[in-house]
Amino acid sequence: MSRSSIYDCSVIQLSKIHNRAGNITIVEGNNNVPFPIKRIYYLYDVPGGENRGGHGHKKLYQLIVATSGSFKVLLDDGKNKKIVRLYQPNYGLLIVPGIWRELFEFSSGSVCLVLASTIYDESDYIRDYSEFKLLKENDTSNS
Ligand code: TYD
Repeated sequence: MSRSSIYDCSVIQLSKIHNRAGNITIVEGNNNVPFPIKRIYYLYDVPGGENRGGHGHKKLYQLIVATSGSFKVLLDDGKNKKIVRLYQPNYGLLIVPGIWRELFEFSSGSVCLVLASTIYDESDYIRDYSEFKLLKENDTSNS
């Protein structure tokens, strides 16, 4: 896994082209996000009070965008934690590999768009927090 920290994760301002007929935001892989976009998925109809996420990834990069409504993301690198609130469709949270994340406090009708650097691979997930902590403590890679 990666020795990454929560300080490697950041909120990126995306383009916003607007006129009286509305706005458009464009995301291009390897251009305004630092990875190729291989997969897109979105969370919606999340019942009030529910949490999503609750895992880490070994290699996956993601950009998370609140395309509608708002929610919060807890980031945890095994040592430090921070909470980011996403609420504007022209801002995205970059999450690097090796970060535990939890998504919560979804507003009614919110949509969480996720741009991901690889196709779905269950073996890339770490779903157990103690295992995540151990992997972070024992990791010696530089990425
Ligand atoms: P998961 O990533 O655990 O959801 P979340 O982090 O939002 O709580 O995925 C939920 C289920 O959906 C799980 O059974 C795996 C499946 N899934 C796919 O088959 N492909 C995908 O690209 C994703 C993201 C999930």
